[in-house]
Amino acid sequence: MTVVPASAEPRPDSGGAAVPRHVAIIMDGNGRWAKARGLPRAAGHKAGAEAARKVLRAAGEAGVECLTLYAFSSENWRRPETEINDLKGLLRFYIQSELDALHKEGIRLKIIGDHSAFGPELCKMVDHAVSRTAANTRMTLAIALNYGSRVELVNAARNLAEKVASGDLDPADIDEAKLDEALDTRELPPLDLLIRTSGECRLSNFLLWQAAYAELLFVETLWPDFGGNELRAALAEFAARERRYGGL
Ligand code: FPP
Repeated sequence: MTVVPASAEPRPDSGGAAVPRHVAIIMDGNGRWAKARGLPRAAGHKAGAEAARKVLRAAGEAGVECLTLYAFSSENWRRPETEINDLKGLLRFYIQSELDALHKEGIRLKIIGDHSAFGPELCKMVDHAVSRTAANTRMTLAIALNYGSRVELVNAARNLAEKVASGDLDPADIDEAKLDEALDTRELPPLDLLIRTSGECRLSNFLLWQAAYAELLFVETLWPDFGGNELRAALAEFAARERRYGGL
């Protein structure tokens, strides 16, 4: 028996090409984009948030069900406090300015990672945006906040161990599906395409389990220069690839 996620089906409006159900992006290169223009790093992040807006729109138009954006990793706390504050401010601004539009367009917001570390005020704002959009079904925007894949896997292991300890789970019943259900991504479709911008070729602790069968695409474009055309080119590259899931 093969266990292959039923993913990347041709969408009615895709001309028959396989459209990934779930695209995740490591949005890299904001700092270099700003530096090349003699601007502060914060200007690069602001332009990056604008790119996120464009890419979300293009992904929705192409029929992508879920877009996951790596906005803040659990390693980003190593950055200077001023930059961390800039990123928090940008997230606050993004949610304030985008929430109505997201909701009107039928987009459900999900968070992966532990956003409680951003403090009660921002945390409340994020929770409000998540609950307000929870019933939307057209598309999902998942934002990774204070996210790290290894911590996510450790938490999942602890969660399963607690169920075993309380007698609610037989260790013999632990399988891939059980682990999947214990991850932050449990309500998201299987990951089909993972893109990293700015020429870096690393996963940087992002969706390590989920990327097992995803197509990986590393592009030179710096994130603030990535827009609808670049996303459509990435989707075309995905459609041209042959996915075999270990088969022939
Ligand atoms: C990596 O560029 C980017 C980040 C650490 C932050 C990503 C955040 C945004 C694009 C803005 C917020 C987005 C949303 C959806 C609210 P870098 O600073 O590491 O760039 P560098 O490698 O060129 O220095």
